Amino acid sequence: MIKAIYPGSFDPVTNGHLDIIKRASKLVDKLVVSVLENPHKKSSLFTVEERIENLKLVTKDIKNIEISSFRGLLVDYAQQIDAQVIIRGLRAVTDFESEFQMALTNKSLFPNIETLFIPTSIEYLYLSSSTVKEIAMFGGNICGMVPCEIKESVLKKFRK
Ligand code: PNS
Repeated sequence: MIKAIYPGSFDPVTNGHLDIIKRASKLVDKLVVSVLENPHKKSSLFTVEERIENLKLVTKDIKNIEISSFRGLLVDYAQQIDAQVIIRGLRAVTDFESEFQMALTNKSLFPNIETLFIPTSIEYLYLSSSTVKEIAMFGGNICGMVPCEIKESVLKKFRK
């Protein structure tokens, strides 16, 4: 059985993330999408619990998926849940350097883990959680950037 972990901040989950989730879930037996609990990051839009709820909502139709959160090193958590593969999405070449460094670091910490890069679908090439937050902050249209189910909750954060 191949179990993979797709880690990230997902603040908020975007259609680009969802595209990677859907495609990765077809490649493995079990996909664990896991939100990093980062105690040093004070400026998150959504709490970890809210991000988990959002991920559950937008992946409710995918059967072989589990949503969780983790603290500390990704490879420690991967070992704990018996995941053999780390999934990461790649957008532009600019992602490559940091993602490659992360993959090599994870491999050096835990040689049994493999990182699988999935290239983004072309329509999400420009998309990131930061872009979504910036557009929402200035009242712009985030339709098509985040799943419909969470669009209101993103906009609500900026109305407060
Ligand atoms: O969505 P993001 O913010 O690009 O995800 C980054 C993430 C969570 C995958 C990365 O920061 C991570 O794995 N953090 C856990 C700490 C860790 O294991 N660091 C060593 C690898 S560089």
